[in-house]
Amino acid sequence: MKQKILVTGGTGYIGSHTVVELQNSGYEVVIIDNLSNSSADVVDNIEKVSGVRPFFEELDCLDYEGLNTVFAKHKGIKAIIHFAASKAVGESVQKPLLYYRNNLLSLINILELMPQHGVEGIVFSSSCTVYGQPDELPVTEKAPIKKAESPYGNTKQVNEEIICDTIKSGSPISAILLRYFNPIGAHPTALLGELPNGVPQNLIPFLTQTAIGIREKLSVFGNDYNTPDGSCIRDFINVVDLAKAHVTAIERILDKKQKQAVETFNIGTGRGLSVLELINLFEKSTGVKLNYEIVGRRAGDIEKVWANPDYANNELGWKAEISIEETLKSAWAWQLKLRERGIQ
Ligand code: WQD
Repeated sequence: MKQKILVTGGTGYIGSHTVVELQNSGYEVVIIDNLSNSSADVVDNIEKVSGVRPFFEELDCLDYEGLNTVFAKHKGIKAIIHFAASKAVGESVQKPLLYYRNNLLSLINILELMPQHGVEGIVFSSSCTVYGQPDELPVTEKAPIKKAESPYGNTKQVNEEIICDTIKSGSPISAILLRYFNPIGAHPTALLGELPNGVPQNLIPFLTQTAIGIREKLSVFGNDYNTPDGSCIRDFINVVDLAKAHVTAIERILDKKQKQAVETFNIGTGRGLSVLELINLFEKSTGVKLNYEIVGRRAGDIEKVWANPDYANNELGWKAEISIEETLKSAWAWQLKLRERGIQ
């Protein structure tokens, strides 16, 4: 009997890749998504990639009764991966209450319903944002949590605390917090990838849209940082590697090794790359010249952050494997496929 996993935000960028990896590992998947930042045809593409159509419920996680109905309809959900959240750093500064309501209340609804439906654990989508600018690099899970630079980052920090406090209060669930670094790239089939609404906020979608001619040029936000080439440094992790980390976390939760416990893992490659290095690697990997210009710094940007992934490698048993060159080529192939399909 296949074990059933609920994936909220499962038609999103990381969510859709994770659904495929869960299915490849033999799990049955139920997706809940309100399609506020994705579309239902992602379910069709998941089926094309994995050969299995996941159950799909169009629903907002703010809808407590709706969630309760879905749990009752899909009996036997063993664990949840919770991606559903608003995630644009800049937008969260403009609309903090939308972010606090959506990101906090959605999680609270899920945590309340889990014990009522025998759901054993939750894998939570957190972020390296919680570290702010680390004092020491590479950053480990023991690094101090710093005051978030944005309401978005604050919702990640508060959600981690909500999960810890809920389990401390005796809730019969366990949790694994995955702190992502910078997810990039697309599925090797080019059937799944990042599809931001409107003007991309993140580097790679803006970069590939510039390379294909949708955007006139890429602005590099600052080259006067205290880094070798002056541009910011990040830990860019392939989205398929990231998706596989979620499957490993689910297996750990279902093995019951960690009953009523909270574990935290940094999910990164352990390698820092600067923005300018990434641009250079993109041009080398794809043969496509990129039009970019150095401009002023972007408010709120962290200067440099990359993971120490040893704990995830040794304790969780997960390690990033896909090269940055393959990752950048997959991002470019995805952008070309979007044009071929007339989507962008
Ligand atoms: C990366 C680097 C920019 C765009 C954020 C969130 C994180 C996660 C990923 C959701 C920075 C530079 C970017 C551009 C640029 N969010 N850049 N020109 O800010 O590291 O992380 O997104 O899951 O939680 O904090 O990602 O891709 O926006 O920026 O020069 O047009 O690229 O300055 O140095 P970031 P990013």
